[in-house]
Amino acid sequence: RSVRVRVPATSANLGPGFDALGVACTLYNEMTLTLTHEKGLHISARGEGAAYIPGDERNIVWKSIQYLLQRADRAEEFQGAKIRMNNRIPLSRGLGSSATAIVAGLTAANAIVGSPFSRDDLLQLATDIEGHPDNVAPAIFGGFTVNTVTNGHVECFSFLPRIFMRFVVMVPDFYLSTKSAREVLPSEVPMKDAVFNVSHAAMMVAALARGSEKHLGNAFEDALHQNYRASLIPGMFDVFAAAKKAGAYGAVLSGAGPCLIAFAPEHRKCTEEVAAAMQEAFLAHDVKARPLHLR
Ligand code: HSE
Repeated sequence: RSVRVRVPATSANLGPGFDALGVACTLYNEMTLTLTHEKGLHISARGEGAAYIPGDERNIVWKSIQYLLQRADRAEEFQGAKIRMNNRIPLSRGLGSSATAIVAGLTAANAIVGSPFSRDDLLQLATDIEGHPDNVAPAIFGGFTVNTVTNGHVECFSFLPRIFMRFVVMVPDFYLSTKSAREVLPSEVPMKDAVFNVSHAAMMVAALARGSEKHLGNAFEDALHQNYRASLIPGMFDVFAAAKKAGAYGAVLSGAGPCLIAFAPEHRKCTEEVAAAMQEAFLAHDVKARPLHLR
């Protein structure tokens, strides 16, 4: 039996919500999965990053499929697979491409074995594999997501904001692995920085849920991760400032980067200006970046 799934790109953190907030975007990877009783893997990929996607046992989609089959006690039955991917999400750029691969594998395999797992279960399995929940949560539930991890148990609340926004994503022409972007973070932070982020993350969720534009102005500020990561993305804070000046509510590092994402009010119709300003600010630091206009 074959199943076809479509999974969105995601942006995690949204500034102050490190490992806690995320949003799904209108850019999708597609995958068709056929599970076979015989051993053997046939993996084909086209589109973004196709040349870098392993066609063997190391493939993250396949690993996720196996993880689900083991949990469902069906691994003996299905020993091989045919996986066809059509990718549009830039690889290793902070738009959740690995979360997309994990969620695609889990969701498709779950459907083939008769959906024994709920979306909440899939969130738990996906987080086990990915290590942090804030990309897999919006990839599974859509919309804006708030997630918590309590004693290893992941919970997610998803909602559609009452403020209509456009996303302007700048994709720099270099890769940055989440692993190296997490290595630069300290293991402890000052209490005042923790308080800063708790208050700003809460303000953002409240402003989005109630549709209060005026409370969104400072809500994208962060003290927990972006300062430490700034050295990995030349010109990052200048690009944020340029986006804001051109009319965006704010701009932040998308996930662990290197993509930067600006949130622009739909009614201001300023996305072209925001994109141009961000691109120019990047260029001043010798970084070439291309824009993606998403919602
Ligand atoms: N919250 C994660 C991080 C997201 O910032 O490392 C990675 O995409």
